[in-house]
Amino acid sequence: MENFAERRIREQKLQDGHLFPKVLFPANNSHKEDITPVLQNITSQESKAWIESELHKCGAILFRGFGLKSAEDFNAFLESFGWEEQPYKGPAPRKNIVGRVWSANEAPLDQHIFFHHEMALTQEFPSKVIFFCEVAPPEGGETAVVQSHRIASHMEGHFPEVVQQLDTNGIFTHTLLPKNDNLGYFLGKSWQSHLQTDDPEEARRKVEGGGGKLQWTEDGSANIIAGPIPATRTFQGYGDRKVWFNYIPAATYGKNEASLNRLICGDGSDIPQRVMEESGRIMDEESVDIKWEVGDVLLIDNLAVMHARRPSKPPRRILVALCK
Ligand code: FE2
Repeated sequence: MENFAERRIREQKLQDGHLFPKVLFPANNSHKEDITPVLQNITSQESKAWIESELHKCGAILFRGFGLKSAEDFNAFLESFGWEEQPYKGPAPRKNIVGRVWSANEAPLDQHIFFHHEMALTQEFPSKVIFFCEVAPPEGGETAVVQSHRIASHMEGHFPEVVQQLDTNGIFTHTLLPKNDNLGYFLGKSWQSHLQTDDPEEARRKVEGGGGKLQWTEDGSANIIAGPIPATRTFQGYGDRKVWFNYIPAATYGKNEASLNRLICGDGSDIPQRVMEESGRIMDEESVDIKWEVGDVLLIDNLAVMHARRPSKPPRRILVALCK
């Protein structure tokens, strides 16, 4: 594709015959001060079709050196691709910056955010997650990506019976939402903010409309129970390739926070500790931690790749957009 130059970065891994993630620079970057010609080039019909097909092959593409500087530039980049926006429905505290661009997570930067497929517990999740680096962290703060089918196949190979059971009976995920917004925690949205109502009855209707259940706790928090959802999933267009499309990584997260996300197997039992530990270990082994540079755009196929946030020193400003 003549508009792009493919390059290597140190973090990349060769997996299944492809470099992961794919890294693209502009073939001609003489337009550094004005991104309009750059956008016209990379989002022509031909380029767009090529990017979509490459994304399908390799799961994630990092665009570097395209001269994007601001949230407005990122919004223009997104608009020129023309992918339809997917509204965010989840417990992460986020702020709208401009257009379809949001802050990725308002929680303190020292918190690790576990691997997940975006909105995996909802019925309508985005097919693409796109990050933009406005301010690169001085230390840490990598966005980690991992090819989910490699995790599913590893877990099936090591725990065939457990995975089969989790697929058959499903997993219930309990998420406790406080009655007041807690920006100190990366899943700290209150139930009112999350469900966009102050009325408990309407909250219940919304949760049940999305296929979940709602329980109230004594202190006025809402416990939302999603599921049962199988541990692995296949998606049309990817053959019989299974992905690790579940919230098991949430339950392996630090002890205090783990109480906010409890996972229970469909038959009422707990998920074996060794399964959760191995899931966490293999994700760290297989993942690529991308060191951000200002202006980077990371395009992720949410049906194929999980993402996580490593703890960071401030400042760090990563923005996000979700597409259907
Ligand atoms: Fe996310």
